Amino acid sequence: MYSGTPNEKPWTVPALAQAKRDGRRLAMLTCYDAGFARTMDAAGVDLVLVGDSLGMVVQGHDSTLPVTTADVTYHTACVARGLEKALLIADLPFAADATPERALDASIGLLQAGAAMVKLEGAGHKLEVIRFLVEREIPVCAHLGLTPQSVLRLGGYKVQGRDEAAAQRLREDARAVQDAGATLLVLECVPTPVAAAITSDLHIPTIGIGAGPQCDGQVLVLHDLLGLNSGHRRPRFVKDFLAEGGSVAGAFAAYAQAVRDGSFPDAEHSYA
Ligand code: KIV
Repeated sequence: MYSGTPNEKPWTVPALAQAKRDGRRLAMLTCYDAGFARTMDAAGVDLVLVGDSLGMVVQGHDSTLPVTTADVTYHTACVARGLEKALLIADLPFAADATPERALDASIGLLQAGAAMVKLEGAGHKLEVIRFLVEREIPVCAHLGLTPQSVLRLGGYKVQGRDEAAAQRLREDARAVQDAGATLLVLECVPTPVAAAITSDLHIPTIGIGAGPQCDGQVLVLHDLLGLNSGHRRPRFVKDFLAEGGSVAGAFAAYAQAVRDGSFPDAEHSYA
């Protein structure tokens, strides 16, 4: 089991693929303001995501659908001011990536606010969007499995890829987003064996959230890691690190260490 230490140097986009080749697991957290960003950065968190989860945990909505590009851009600029070493990723919110041109406009604003990469949900017609952005020098993180912007079609927040056909589709989509040029892939709420197979299929790192311990990295929503009640059902994969870390900074450091040494997530925080 690999047990690394926090990166000495600021993270770059090419360093992510090198981390996978080196077997170095990546610790990622969501963040929405400069104060938490500074604390995460100092605690050795590698990747910071301004997720559209901000619609649920900051704005108090029931889904991520009301979040706008202006919202994510504002929070990205706040978070960017707090970071020195962590790589900053910003979400393209619902429908901001409906066409390649819309995605390009939104992504330019996010990169100008300080992000080094944008994240978008899905495959299908999004493959064209990924190619379009990557050809224009915008690094892309893909997101498959449970894609919260699809909540209306999915009928809720449910584990994806449970049967053989769905697992096979996920594997094909994962290869397709990699081939389209994505640099990173978030896998959300996917059974452990499916995420493990995708992780070994790909040369880009996978970042799991409810996707088992064999991904190349993990992400949690800040409020979940701190055990805050954000008014929504607590998913199985959530762990309160504040209890074990003793302080906010301690919680971030305990999380980053647990991701690096492979002790989080365990079976209790994964889907079989
Ligand atoms: O919006 C978000 O916070 C996310 C993470 C849960 C991966 O997409």
